Amino acid sequence: MASLLIPLLGRVAAKAGDALVAELLRAWGLDKARRKLERHLAAVQCILLDADAKSRTNPAVSRWVKDLKTAAYQADDVLDGFRYEALRRRATAQFHRCSTARKVLGYFTADSPLLFRLSMSRKMKDALEMIDELVAEMNNFHFLQRTEAPTIVHPQTHSCVDESEIIGRQDDKEQVVKILLDHSNNSNDGHNVTVLPIVGMGGIGKTTLAQLVHNDQRVMHHFELVIWICVSDKFAIEGIIRSIIELATLKKCGLTQTEALHKELSRVLGKKRYLLVLDDVWNEDRQKWDDMRSVLCSHAGLGSVIIVTSRSEQVASIMGTLPPHQISLLNEDQSWELFHKNTFGREAEKQEELVSMAKSILHKCKGLPLAIKTIAALLRSKHQSQWFSVLDSDVWKNDILAAGIVPALQLSYDHLSSEAKVCFFLLCYFPQG
Ligand SMILES: Nc1ncnc2c1ncn2[C@@H]1O[C@H](COP(=O)(O)OP(=O)(O)OP(=O)(O)O)[C@@H](O)[C@H]1O
Ligand SMILES: [Mg+2]
Repeated sequence: MASLLIPLLGRVAAKAGDALVAELLRAWGLDKARRKLERHLAAVQCILLDADAKSRTNPAVSRWVKDLKTAAYQADDVLDGFRYEALRRRATAQFHRCSTARKVLGYFTADSPLLFRLSMSRKMKDALEMIDELVAEMNNFHFLQRTEAPTIVHPQTHSCVDESEIIGRQDDKEQVVKILLDHSNNSNDGHNVTVLPIVGMGGIGKTTLAQLVHNDQRVMHHFELVIWICVSDKFAIEGIIRSIIELATLKKCGLTQTEALHKELSRVLGKKRYLLVLDDVWNEDRQKWDDMRSVLCSHAGLGSVIIVTSRSEQVASIMGTLPPHQISLLNEDQSWELFHKNTFGREAEKQEELVSMAKSILHKCKGLPLAIKTIAALLRSKHQSQWFSVLDSDVWKNDILAAGIVPALQLSYDHLSSEAKVCFFLLCYFPQG
């Protein structure tokens, strides 16, 4: 629950601090209330993680967290209303410069700004009262404050892939397989282990390509040992050695002494020709890699190869003995195929308007597979009449490639209410994002 509340409260706090909203509320004499709301939200955000933990065992806390969610949604709606009004005022002010008569007329209509102001002020007061009460109760629970960002467990990648779900990448796979086999067969390039980096931005398909290569029959057949390790941000030599031992023997390794670990690694690798995939590497410390390489090389058989996937060119230049394989974005047809596979039924395809809207949305994903899959999942969960709001969302203002994946994730937040939100939340807070 807290995992959903953290971004929700963050969003509400951002709206409460919005300059346009603040200006309007100042003019309406509600600035004190707005600032109180900001302070309360900041206080509540600090204790959410502890509240979440306690809510699992304490029904009163669970009720409190539920009410907080309702209050946050209410505040969110009210602030949206204020922002809308601020934007509307700005637009009509321009219009009214040419037509004062309309201004007078508008004053007495059912949409009277006065009525609107009264009703919005009441709603703001209600939302604030509710949050006030919750903050007062919060103090009775004696929650622990945690101001640091939540620690996220990185999802572990693995070597399995359903090839029928993968669009394109045949050429990439052939190129990488060829490089591996050629260098493995002619391993007289001065390195007893060849290191091939696969680089590209987050979500472009580096892990996917490495999986395709890892599972290729020619590769499986050529190397005596094929091992997949998800490194992520933990570039610890002993941890990686232990993983290699465990994967090669399929047994838990309880060794803790460095010397014992090295001896066991030497026994397990036994100068075999191995392919080691180090997925998702972030370490840019050359010394650490040098230490790791000397261990991996000293037990390697001739023709051994390491594939390393990373978002970082720096990692590629530190680790690679070969130029990195750069993955490109999907082309238009491939993007459509991936989108179509993840969104449409045949019926929808017959609706021209929907197809054209889908193509406009897809165009904004710029061929990034993760963005396409994310948006496809989002649209699948929405009624088709709501697709336009996705297309019209502010998050597309930035170029998705320049701004990274975060805008698409924000979009999912504004529109999703399923467990997918949790996934997107994890991605949003992915420290290396
Ligand atoms: N060609 C493709 N066809 C279908 N799905 C794809 C393709 N490429 C990637 N995907 C999907 O997109 C998502 C992101 O891909 P992947 O994890 O391989 O990206 P990545 O480059 O390794 O990202 P990161 O830098 O975050 O590790 C995954 O769900 C994957 O299944
Ligand atoms: Mg990856």
